[in-house]
Amino acid sequence: MEFGKLLEKRRSVRRFLDKQVPREVMEGILRQALTAPSARNTRSTRFMVVTDRNTIEKMASVRDYGAGFLAGAPAAVVVMGDTSASDLWDINCAISATLLQLACVDAGLASCWVHMAGRPRRKDDPQGESAENYLRSLLPIPAQYRVECIIALGYSDFTPAPLPPHDDSASIIWAD
Ligand SMILES: Cc1cc2nc3c(=O)[nH]c(=O)nc-3n(C[C@H](O)[C@H](O)[C@H](O)COP(=O)(O)O)c2cc1C
Repeated sequence: MEFGKLLEKRRSVRRFLDKQVPREVMEGILRQALTAPSARNTRSTRFMVVTDRNTIEKMASVRDYGAGFLAGAPAAVVVMGDTSASDLWDINCAISATLLQLACVDAGLASCWVHMAGRPRRKDDPQGESAENYLRSLLPIPAQYRVECIIALGYSDFTPAPLPPHDDSASIIWAD
């Protein structure tokens, strides 16, 4: 897909069809996302792919705000960083996750980011259980991996409009 079109089509989608993503399609987009640049080429990002419906439903309560829609996703990719490979694991993860979302668009899939790093499970209990700790109770996440986010993905018949025009002129500073 032409790059401008790809960017235009990328929107967060939180409603999915009840249709599995073929394994070879999943494999393809994950490998594309792993081409992301990483600090000192440490390639510290790891993906854990979850397709079991019961597990994904449990993952939807990873946070009591902004994660409930996960329950309707046919696939969830946990984006993790190997802390033994890079101290910049979180930044490496964010770049890989972004590429994954763009790869989704190119493959005709829709996706949305569910943030994990530093987030509590319950909004009104910021010092309570972390979202990551709860996720660890569901999935075999190695101790040296930290979780950045979950990318919910699948097919959707919902086509959001392109982002409305935004005046970004203040975000670009020409030092000359
Ligand atoms: C770092 C980050 C964290 C996000 N966390 C969540 C989240 O926890 N739940 C959610 O529904 N959307 C989440 N989003 C999606 C944003 O809400 C969305 O990207 C933003 O509103 C812009 O909309 P768009 O992606 O359709 O352009 C997150 C996006 C990013 C980049």
